[in-house]
Amino acid sequence: MTTRKDCLALDAHDKLSPLREHFTLPDGVIYLDGNSLGVLPKAAPARIQQVVQHEWGVGLIRSWNTAGWIDLARRLGDGIAPLIGAEAGEVIVGDSTSVNLYKVLSAAIALVKADEGHRSVILSERSNFPTDLYIADSLVRAHGMELKLVDADEIEAHLNEKLAVLMLTHVNYRTGRMHDMPALTRAAHAAGALVVWDLAHSAGAVPVNLKGDGPPEEAADFAVGCGYKYLNGGPGAPAFVWAHPWHTEYMDSQHLRQPLSGWLGHAAPFEFKADYHPARGIQRFVCGTPPVLSMSALECGLDVFHAAEAYGGMDALRGKSVALTTLFIELVEEYCVGQGLTLFTPRDPAQRGSQVSFARGTGGYAIMQALIARGVIGDFRAPDILRFGFTPLYTRYVDVWDAMVHLTQVLQTGEWREPRFNQRAAVT
Ligand SMILES: Cc1ncc(COP(=O)(O)O)c(C=O)c1O
Repeated sequence: MTTRKDCLALDAHDKLSPLREHFTLPDGVIYLDGNSLGVLPKAAPARIQQVVQHEWGVGLIRSWNTAGWIDLARRLGDGIAPLIGAEAGEVIVGDSTSVNLYKVLSAAIALVKADEGHRSVILSERSNFPTDLYIADSLVRAHGMELKLVDADEIEAHLNEKLAVLMLTHVNYRTGRMHDMPALTRAAHAAGALVVWDLAHSAGAVPVNLKGDGPPEEAADFAVGCGYKYLNGGPGAPAFVWAHPWHTEYMDSQHLRQPLSGWLGHAAPFEFKADYHPARGIQRFVCGTPPVLSMSALECGLDVFHAAEAYGGMDALRGKSVALTTLFIELVEEYCVGQGLTLFTPRDPAQRGSQVSFARGTGGYAIMQALIARGVIGDFRAPDILRFGFTPLYTRYVDVWDAMVHLTQVLQTGEWREPRFNQRAAVT
């Protein structure tokens, strides 16, 4: 039986523990919501102050060149690339995940239509994050296509000659279930479709290898992901886009088009030509002027991943993530037995990301509010999911223990029934 003392010993021997020092974590808070909004990198306030006071305040317009603002989208992309199995120059940062998904899905549809017009289906998972489904829905309407939604286990059965694009989120936001990316990518390619991955709950959380280790068919076509979750880029941090260089580099430069053809995705923006020629490479997925302040914060988040390389990088982080999520599942199932919680995340660590979800027939929202009042911050996803994110960069084993103790007390005392915990806020 694991004890709190065991957890303290695990922390004492944790080689990744120095990485926690890179973050500001409020006293009295156990933060288990890094899958929704990551914590503040210690370097960020000073960096933003520097950008505001010196680069903006003094450098003014000159800073686009002198402070390298114009390269930020690509520089940050280079920081994300190793986390997702991409090379430098293949990833670009900007806009939101939703907007980037619109760009890549449109580009994928155009590629398929150009080659094989009879393919009319975009396939996704019924429980995919709503924004992905809404974006896909708007595109199928515009293109006279069909959005087919199936359960996770039915995906392979729907890979057929009608399929244009398989669009999936690698780690499901509610269940935490992780798809077998290489296997599904290969199967969709075998069916003649293109593959788009949303890495919102993967980048910085689990090792991702978009290009696969095996045959070329395992390499995905496009991916998007979030800057403000596991990458700790701050609220509303810009997102990222990756496209396989096959599409962006090796083909004719006009081959791949994205619909938001803004000036900074042009091959020569400062020639101010009237007609649009996409830049080579991933740069064409840039639309307009980058949000320099937000990008500066995101860069501080990415710097921590760079520092993490000295401690074993994503593989070591994954090892700790699995240990943390496994421990939480074991402790909650042992101590909260009979309290109505049902594990909603796959028990097999190979099939889950870095979060643990429990379903509860009633009271889920109020239970989470009671936990938050005690300083244990997770979140609630309608209709009945208590969601706990584990971030190996800063979550300690003892946090897992203490979170379990609070959860047990909230359930055993019934304090969650207090009216104050039952008033719904706009953000859950
Ligand atoms: C899978 C997934 N995609 C996209 C988003 C959000 O997209 P955006 O950054 O455009 O709000 C989320 C947010 O939680 C998400 O879970």
